[in-house]
Amino acid sequence: MLEPISPAALRAALEWQLEMGCDEAIGEAPLNRYALPDRMPPAASAANVTAPGPASAPMVAPAATDPVAEAERMAAEAGDLAALQAALAAYPWCDLRLGARNLVFSDGDPAARVMIVGEAPGREEDRAGRPFVGQAGQLLDRMLAAIGMSRDSEARDAVYITNVLPWRPPSNRDPEPEETAMMLPFVRRHIALADPEILVLMGNHACGALLGRKGITRMRGHWAEAEGRPALPMLHPAYLLRQPAAKRDAWADLLSLAARLRA
Ligand code: URA
Repeated sequence: MLEPISPAALRAALEWQLEMGCDEAIGEAPLNRYALPDRMPPAASAANVTAPGPASAPMVAPAATDPVAEAERMAAEAGDLAALQAALAAYPWCDLRLGARNLVFSDGDPAARVMIVGEAPGREEDRAGRPFVGQAGQLLDRMLAAIGMSRDSEARDAVYITNVLPWRPPSNRDPEPEETAMMLPFVRRHIALADPEILVLMGNHACGALLGRKGITRMRGHWAEAEGRPALPMLHPAYLLRQPAAKRDAWADLLSLAARLRA
């Protein structure tokens, strides 16, 4: 039997449709236009993908494939950041891409000593195609400025920023474990190619993905190791917006980062 859909889930689905631009009913019954024969794209390949840019015609994901193994293969084949971005854009197994306006790959200086890994794009990031540009991103910029760093600085004081997921989850829901598992090979390759000295893991999701454990309020400020380099778990700026009293902890962590960079 079908589970009843909660009013909250229905509302979230409607809001998502509105955000996608579906604000007018043009027929009595739903019609899956992607399933019409003239809209079926040929088998997915890098050649029928526009990368980067707005998610355009959806790709048909070949069935009976292990999406994580495919992600590992495609990520490993990428020899530089541009190729990795193109590989992500050509990856057809993560359905988040279907609801996203843009693939949000990175911002800042890829040669920076510090690489920040967040969770996933929100609405503003999805629109702009850049990570951390909404309210939380603006707070992140102010936090970095407080220790003399920014995404636009010269390499010595610059940061490079990405997320575990490159596409916005609908209604900003939490990422599903399968989505994280599919994207992790790309994130790991991203880190290997950028090769930062230090990783900053923003929030629980980044810690779960790259350290294999969660509990950010306990983990924050305690240096760990991820992808063969020092990693600092920090409170996510979105959390700090909700819990301003925690900014004291974030300040302590920023000072710890600054001290490590000077050491
Ligand atoms: N939160 C994130 O984790 N990443 C973004 O890009 C924006 C908000």
